[in-house]
Amino acid sequence: MAPREADRNLGVVIGGARGIGLAVGRYLLRDGWQIVVADLDPPEAEKPGGAEVRGNAASALHYIRTDIADSASVDGLAAKVQAMGGPVCGLVNAAGYNRHRAVSDIDDATWQELLDVHLGGVIRACRAFHPILRESQGAVVNFSSIGARIGRPRRAPYGAAKAGIEAFTRTLAIEWAADGIRVNAVAPGIVDTRMIRENIERGLVDPDSLCRNIPLGRFGEPAEIAEAAAFLLSDRASYVTGQTLAVDGGVLANGAW
Ligand SMILES: NC(=O)c1ccc[n+]([C@@H]2O[C@H](COP(=O)([O-])OP(=O)(O)OC[C@H]3O[C@@H](n4cnc5c(N)ncnc54)[C@H](O)[C@@H]3O)[C@@H](O)[C@H]2O)c1
Repeated sequence: MAPREADRNLGVVIGGARGIGLAVGRYLLRDGWQIVVADLDPPEAEKPGGAEVRGNAASALHYIRTDIADSASVDGLAAKVQAMGGPVCGLVNAAGYNRHRAVSDIDDATWQELLDVHLGGVIRACRAFHPILRESQGAVVNFSSIGARIGRPRRAPYGAAKAGIEAFTRTLAIEWAADGIRVNAVAPGIVDTRMIRENIERGLVDPDSLCRNIPLGRFGEPAEIAEAAAFLLSDRASYVTGQTLAVDGGVLANGAW
């Protein structure tokens, strides 16, 4: 049985310091959750919830420095969160970055790094939080990408890691169904965050040509992606598990990049 909405008071957003993760944290704060931002960096906005936050945002927001690529750091995060008393009703895996390189130019370290932060990070976070989520019958939202389903040059390790996250999400949903834990993923399209802006500034991607490939004709906003994650975490999605929800302005439906 799904926990009551009133019990859903602590959410952990890994990669919640900025971009999409920050937007997810804002949603949860606004809905009355407490959140732990687990990231290499502290949250970018001083008050992520702004004026919309119900209650005292400062006391509802905690930051724990975490490196998702390091098992000891992730296990330490889980221990610190457990000590906060819970119940931990949501785990969001939104950390990540990309490196654009042709396959023939990728060294072992780069492959390993990208697989380790994305796929490895999701696996180690889910493993560390399993006992905590089992107690609360919480929900997990992992972040994939449309890059898991369409091939785009110079993004092979990223796409492979994200495809792995989708497969992992399905398997984990089945493994954890008996524990009452739902596991889903969101696959964003092109979203206006630092990840994309840096690539535009470096001349690696052209925003106009990107938008020509998006049926809705524009980048997504982090809040539009957070809306989907907040839904999947909530009781409104109580019968949804093992799914990846694309929030991409129609890119995957269009079928051609
Ligand atoms: N922006 C997009 O267009 C887009 C598209 C598809 C998927 N995604 C995915 O959505 C998620 C969020 O991306 P974003 O656009 O908000 O990126 P972002 O760069 O704005 O934020 C990513 C966050 O992850 C953190 N992070 C990176 N490495 C980490 C590590 N080792 N340990 C802990 N934290 C770490 C960063 O410090 C940062 O706060 C990522 O998984 C990304 O792959 C983004």
